Amino acid sequence: MTAADTVSNPPRTKTRVAVLISGSGTNMVSLIKAGQRAEAAYEVGLVVSNIQDAAGLEKARALGVEAIALPHRDFGKDREAHERAVQKLLAEAQIEVVALAGYMRILTPYLVREWEGRMINIHPSLLPLYPGLDTHARAIAAGDAEAGCTIHIVTEGMDEGPVLGQARVPVLPDDSAEVLAERVKGVEHTLYPEVLDRFCRQLAG
Ligand code: GAR
Repeated sequence: MTAADTVSNPPRTKTRVAVLISGSGTNMVSLIKAGQRAEAAYEVGLVVSNIQDAAGLEKARALGVEAIALPHRDFGKDREAHERAVQKLLAEAQIEVVALAGYMRILTPYLVREWEGRMINIHPSLLPLYPGLDTHARAIAAGDAEAGCTIHIVTEGMDEGPVLGQARVPVLPDDSAEVLAERVKGVEHTLYPEVLDRFCRQLAG
């Protein structure tokens, strides 16, 4: 091997991660930045959004990460056809682990099985409390003293897979769902990179 080979084709030590988003991508940004640190076990190599103009796409590009919009609307009601197109992008980019970060699609068994044990998700509640939508409003309505987020392995049951980590915040007396959501996001941005890093280290053995 020549010196030129080493520069153009460095040994791959970091796990290649794709982040799937649907919106603002603030978690995605924290994952990308943490993965760009020299000591990180992973790097984000691709961002895919099912929403054409998701704000997170430009944020990813600004951080030097390839970001592709693949609108589910182009596939009509055929959820699996959309997922097969997503899978093609993931395979072409040689992705090893998938991190869902505000990806607001219910996955079919096809994609879940393709990534069994290698796909993780962040959910804005202390699972098993409040799977699904409107988690913050439901926590407030229930009078909960605490809310938070959960990172878990994706399985076929929605928001059901093995938990890898949780972080908690207080619910304050005058909280609106929006205010609570922002407080939860504050801890999501720290927890998700930590858990993804640990997860990739464990997978790499
Ligand atoms: C995050 O709060 C995440 O936990 C939630 O969407 C938000 C995405 O924000 N995920 C879900 O609700 C999944 N069911 P972001 O785009 O700014 O990272």
